[in-house]
Amino acid sequence: DLAASLDAISEKGTDAFYKGAIADAIIKASGAKGGILAKPDFEQYAVRELKPVTCTYRGYEITSSPPPSSGGIIICEILNVLEGYPLSYLGAGSAETVHVMVEAMRYAYVDRNSALGDPDFVDNPVSKLLDKAYAKDIRDKIDPFRAGVSQDLMPKGFGESKETTHYSIIDDAGNAVAVTYTLNGSFGAGVVADGTGILLNNEMDDFTQKPGVPNLYGLVQGEANAIQPKKTPLSSMSPTVVAKDGKPFMVIGSPGGSRIITITLEAIVNVIDHGMNIQEAIDAPRIHHQWLPDKVYVEPFGLSPDTEKLLAGMGYHLDLADQTWGQAAGILVGGKSLAEIEKGGGARYNGAIDSRAASGEALGY
Ligand code: DON
Repeated sequence: DLAASLDAISEKGTDAFYKGAIADAIIKASGAKGGILAKPDFEQYAVRELKPVTCTYRGYEITSSPPPSSGGIIICEILNVLEGYPLSYLGAGSAETVHVMVEAMRYAYVDRNSALGDPDFVDNPVSKLLDKAYAKDIRDKIDPFRAGVSQDLMPKGFGESKETTHYSIIDDAGNAVAVTYTLNGSFGAGVVADGTGILLNNEMDDFTQKPGVPNLYGLVQGEANAIQPKKTPLSSMSPTVVAKDGKPFMVIGSPGGSRIITITLEAIVNVIDHGMNIQEAIDAPRIHHQWLPDKVYVEPFGLSPDTEKLLAGMGYHLDLADQTWGQAAGILVGGKSLAEIEKGGGARYNGAIDSRAASGEALGY
């Protein structure tokens, strides 16, 4: 059959494929399985002739495919980064070579997956991605001794978070509201009530299913939170307003399951005790402990290596996470930090969204 199709194409040219019996057969096969291919998809197809992507690597000239393939750009971007490393000295397959290659790939694929698309629809940032200066910026960000963390490179507004939602609001009259709402797990029970668009939650997991058995967030809970008729499960949601002399000082909260509590707590401590501004207080690496499991969870770069050693020496079990958690949203009233508030003259409302957040913004009104 394939030979017959190829014969038809070689005798009648591309029309045999796009306008003849072959197209009809493909449309039929697609339709039989619920596909939506139609005649115009074939009839209107036209090859685009595009300028190839070019770059140089150690004096060699590379010519490769342009968008809608990402191939040429991404090969060039990775080569531009690698040009700054003495690969032949480091050797094929050495840890150093693999390290710099993987990090260059990591950065380039973030660009591929977030910025590139069909050039008829997307303004591809080709010259930026092929710029040797951009490659140097990437090299400057690569830690020579440590693997990068992909999650840390998540571009803003890239997809929607799977987490619970928190927002902090303060209006012109000074009324402050902190709101956290949740389906518990991502998509809750995974069931939509027909015709409503409303998802059913799986909040039953917030109850103690069985004393001693950890729930979705690893919480080991007892009888007080047992399932009973008409009872509400114990939550960790912590929408919080901190006031000073009866007036709102800070509005704060976050998603994060059982970690919501420590996320919110640490933001407050960072502002009040450590003098951080609201953005720094939210962005600072977090630690978390929830009794069981008996571990101190530490975000990437949360502790210095000597602090880690000191804590381990004190008997702590550190769990050095490779991912961050939470998406705090906060407002500080009267200044960005306690110091600015005390000096006077800071902005009235100072919003901050977690730099970990996949989406979300601090907005004025
Ligand atoms: O109420 C609670 O404590 C949980 N249902 C919250 C779940 C949550 O934050 C999930 N998203 N990160």
